Amino acid sequence: MTRPLSEASLRECLWFGEGAPEEVAERAAESLAASVARASGLKPFPAVAQHVLSLLAKHDVDARTLHETLEKDPVLATRVLRVASSPAYNPGRPYVSLEQALVRLGNRAVGELVAGVAAMGVFSDASGVGEVVRSHCASVAAIARVIGTERRFRGVGRAFLAALLHDVGKLMLVAVGEFDYSPEMLQRPDECHIRERLALGYDHAAVGASVLREWGLDDSLVRLVAFHHQPGHVYSFDPLEVQIAAYLRLADAIEYAFRLDPETPDPDRLDGLVNHEANTYVSLSAAGLAALWPRFREEIDALRSAFAR
Ligand SMILES: [Fe+2]
Ligand SMILES: [Fe+2]
Repeated sequence: MTRPLSEASLRECLWFGEGAPEEVAERAAESLAASVARASGLKPFPAVAQHVLSLLAKHDVDARTLHETLEKDPVLATRVLRVASSPAYNPGRPYVSLEQALVRLGNRAVGELVAGVAAMGVFSDASGVGEVVRSHCASVAAIARVIGTERRFRGVGRAFLAALLHDVGKLMLVAVGEFDYSPEMLQRPDECHIRERLALGYDHAAVGASVLREWGLDDSLVRLVAFHHQPGHVYSFDPLEVQIAAYLRLADAIEYAFRLDPETPDPDRLDGLVNHEANTYVSLSAAGLAALWPRFREEIDALRSAFAR
């Protein structure tokens, strides 16, 4: 069961919390609203992707109709096929055509794929810091896919999509010039949102969630993005969502470690990942996680090139 993210829930993302003076919390909510309006005006969601998602939400739509709709945006259609054929998404034989991919994937997976690819496509012109964040998102998605497949997690498609979109708020803040990320900030997990809150009164998780809602993506995804830095809050989600959030948070933490140790994981960092709060739901052993390192490398490379301009 999904519940819409209320304004009150969104405000709880902010550090001001319940005890803060009301006008301060209001000012933060107003700046957030203004920031989201600027961001989504500057970076609209592709109309064809929106159409595909609305078809999938309303009817039992067939693959042929989806194909005809998707082909109206050739760049999006090509990217969808490329990502669907990447080993992170499809370990079997590559699809010979978009139509074949749509039939084999099924509507649910097609919706997840189109939403993720379209959202990343909005930022295909990102450079500098934006490019670093975009690569991070693609890498976290590849890692979420690898660990989800390894653990035979039934929410692996959702975890992939949530991972792909989790830091979309950072891309928005960069695009509208709202916040300057230093390279050091981008090297540490669970760091940027603290800096953003101190400087702006809200963070990239809140911006990302609001923009995804503005784009018409579903409430569950909005909630996963809104709270990806607040694990305490996540426990109130439904059980599958709690697990998806855990896969996302663990994949996020693994990505930072992987960047530091691309060949072999450092034993202390490996220990930190195995004892990460999110691993309670994923249950990877140190040996099991270390054994996945080469697959992370392969699938990160494949997914990044699938997303390349
Ligand atoms: Fe984040
Ligand atoms: Fe992240």
